[in-house]
Amino acid sequence: MRLLVTGGCGFIGSNFIRDMLARHDDLTIVNLDALTYAGNRQSLADVEAAYTGRYVFVRGDIGNAELAHYLFAAHGIEAVVNFAAETHVDRSISDAAPFIATNVAGTQTLLDAARSGGVRRFVHVSTDEVYGTLGPEGKFREDTPLAPNSPYSASKAGADMLVRAAYETYGYDTVITRCSNNYGPYQFPEKLIPLMFSRAAADEPLPVYGDGLNVRDWIFVTDHCRGVELALLKGKAGEVYNFGGDAEKPNIEVVRTLLAALGKPESLIRFVTDRPGHDRRYAMDFTKAARELGFAPSYDFARGIAETVQWYRDNGAWLESVKSGAYRQFMDSWYGARA
Ligand code: NAD
Ligand code: TYD
Repeated sequence: MRLLVTGGCGFIGSNFIRDMLARHDDLTIVNLDALTYAGNRQSLADVEAAYTGRYVFVRGDIGNAELAHYLFAAHGIEAVVNFAAETHVDRSISDAAPFIATNVAGTQTLLDAARSGGVRRFVHVSTDEVYGTLGPEGKFREDTPLAPNSPYSASKAGADMLVRAAYETYGYDTVITRCSNNYGPYQFPEKLIPLMFSRAAADEPLPVYGDGLNVRDWIFVTDHCRGVELALLKGKAGEVYNFGGDAEKPNIEVVRTLLAALGKPESLIRFVTDRPGHDRRYAMDFTKAARELGFAPSYDFARGIAETVQWYRDNGAWLESVKSGAYRQFMDSWYGARA
């Protein structure tokens, strides 16, 4: 199969490409990535070296229709997996514009180009955050109404609606996946787990929003990647599939687990001004994906965190190299305002 993967230099996309190329000898992948502040070509340096004939990197924007048409034709692309997005909730609160440009407009441009360019299937990678927030009970199902609360999740919900419309209007073969919070190797250090690792390792204070009791369902990144693969290969056109990790944890427990793994004191924890519109709890019902695709997460949280901590310990150079000037500027202003 010949695949176009977008956003492959980000966290999940890079894990997906590495895993897929290792397990499918007949697969070639074109990775289209704009290399924003969150995209890092060095995250796939090993893949570039190992798969010269089966992997191509192209720097470009999913909102560039001409480029997309060229790539579809030049590489005989059969399916698109769209990971490319602006992904950080806090940045979307600070400035929603790039979220609308990439997540909404960019997705529509790529979708149109794929449909008119004869690409057979379009898999769109979305998030549990489109469903909004839960109280202490219940889980999100695929038929839970969308009720996004942040500019990020609103832009992802907008994209989901456009992908749905392509199926309903043109009968285009689309599949949407919605997954819970990922963690693991190559995650950018603006997200909770790598941010807290990075700060704790440097004995810096750990900013926990609000009371620290917001709950996320954590999934190890390769389990999510297997879910996307199953959706690509076995998903039904026009369907949505939820994936989760069966590992609901309050944030404070995640932070304490990390501190214990690093041998650092809990006195590093600081409760800071909450994120505006902070969703209280996410939890995923993924029985549909289990039943129809055979999806099941293979990692429990203890194993996933142990492997993640070890990876970050072993890859300190990667962690430092991805902290650009733009990254530091945002972090200083955002956390400066919450102290
Ligand atoms: P990330 O921020 O680590 O990576 C995003 C990648 O997209 C980067 O490489 C970036 O350069 C690229 N990109 C951004 N705008 C682009 C554009 N206009 N054109 C081409 N490339 C562009 O994100 P991630 O955590 O790997 O998330 C990947 C996808 O999975 C996103 O769609 C996200 O909404 C979804 N998702 C993420 C999580 C999570 O926990 N991280 C959970 C569920 C779903
Ligand atoms: P994050 O990794 O930003 O993912 P999302 O908001 O998409 O779920 O945040 C995960 C949880 O951690 C969320 O409840 C917000 C919280 N959080 C903090 O308490 N402090 C922080 O500095 C960050 C980045 C997140």
